[in-house]
Amino acid sequence: MSETARELLGEIEAFLALFQVTPTKFGVDAVNDGHLVAKLRKGGSVTLKTADRVRAYMASERSEQPAAPRQAAASHRVLLIIGGGIAAYKCLDLIRRLRERGIAVRAVMTKAAQQFVTPLSVGALTSDRVFTELFDLDDEREIGHIRLSREADLIVVAPATADLLAKMAGGHADDLASCVLMATDKPVLIAPAMNPRMWLHPATRRNVTQLKADGIALVGPNIGEMAERGEAGPGRLAEVPELVEAIIGMLAPLVQKGGGNLPLVGRHVLVTSGPTHEPIDPVRYIANRSSGKQGSAIAAEAAALGARVTLVSGPTQIADPPGVEVVHIESAREMLEAVRRALPADIAIFAAAVADWRVATRSDEKIKKAAGQGAPRLELVENPDILKTIAAEKGGRRPKLVIGFAAETQNVIEFAKKKRRAKGADWIVANDVSPETGIMGGDRNAVHVISEDGVESWPDLDKGEVARRLMARAANYFAERTAPV
Ligand code: C5P
Repeated sequence: MSETARELLGEIEAFLALFQVTPTKFGVDAVNDGHLVAKLRKGGSVTLKTADRVRAYMASERSEQPAAPRQAAASHRVLLIIGGGIAAYKCLDLIRRLRERGIAVRAVMTKAAQQFVTPLSVGALTSDRVFTELFDLDDEREIGHIRLSREADLIVVAPATADLLAKMAGGHADDLASCVLMATDKPVLIAPAMNPRMWLHPATRRNVTQLKADGIALVGPNIGEMAERGEAGPGRLAEVPELVEAIIGMLAPLVQKGGGNLPLVGRHVLVTSGPTHEPIDPVRYIANRSSGKQGSAIAAEAAALGARVTLVSGPTQIADPPGVEVVHIESAREMLEAVRRALPADIAIFAAAVADWRVATRSDEKIKKAAGQGAPRLELVENPDILKTIAAEKGGRRPKLVIGFAAETQNVIEFAKKKRRAKGADWIVANDVSPETGIMGGDRNAVHVISEDGVESWPDLDKGEVARRLMARAANYFAERTAPV
């Protein structure tokens, strides 16, 4: 079977798996293309012209399919060079985690890497073809090593084997992976993984020193058990969450939009906003005066800083902010459910004015006004506290930064400090919503940000400016904690 046929089959299989199509429904000319898949599976060959036609079909389908929307929209691109080590399987999860965060991943695999994971599985996860060959005329015509580098923001080598490190340090370029690494002017992050004795070998020590001097960033290796029984020491590939953090830490300052930094690239920000409506009957409800302007401004700002944003909003009169996934809900319980569904998130900001109570039993019919019967009595029950519930989530479910709001009409700072502790929030943004301030429903806000470091009082600002300052503070919080390696 020719190289072209083998690669094309890999791409077709990945396509079929991703879009859940059968060979008989595949292609522009489904019948003939169904035969083609069967032929390739039996080891048959294919002309370059047919391969081009099939690839063009898959590319056009991919760009129209909602199955990979983030890949198409992603403005942050990682070229992942997979080396040949037992830890290569972790790259499958890594690709998935990066794509969840809106980061597009394209993969290059060394020959050795293909002994551990197949290009088919890698391609199914990247939704792209996987690049393996340096001397493939077809590849060079379509997309060569220079373009692979040019079309990436960051190059990641994982697992970086002793051999790959040696090649990089020595400037070799005898296969696609090393050629891309030699030809690139993009930042490179390597995640070494090898036997401890290889890691501690003087040759590897020399190579690592050289690579660091060349400006290459490293993540790991970790110390621990090796795949081989009884072997332990430094040489384990960094865990996937560590790899993701290191990649985001490097991508964030790199990706420029309109000349500005995008420090929240790869972060998922969840915002609640607006009032909730608690139904009494099909036409009546309990509500409050929240306009949703502050929460919406925060969501828009988070998106402008590169984050993937989910805004869970109660009913408002304002337009959905652009570039944000908005989930419209009405009641507090619906809001909690939508928030839970949107997790995990890196940052959660609870700006909604959630009704504290709902009517115990909402009437399915409109409550009638009957002469002589007086007004109906509404029994109220407490709504779930969304902020408190999410702040108490365990492990990875709790967002790393939980921000609550406190709308008070007296002793603002004192009450807000208590609220921060009671609700388990990291920060509380407190404001005075006494009617004379005009804050509730208005365009301006004067807030105090309460954290474990103390109280920061901001002047009276436009709600957009409050959002900008708050998100800049949140981005700093992450920048300090995700030190590029
Ligand atoms: O207790 P209080 O309503 O003053 O708390 C305000 C903060 O708690 C806000 O961040 C608000 O969005 C959040 N909250 C909530 N669920 C509730 C009540 C308040 O998430 N049921």
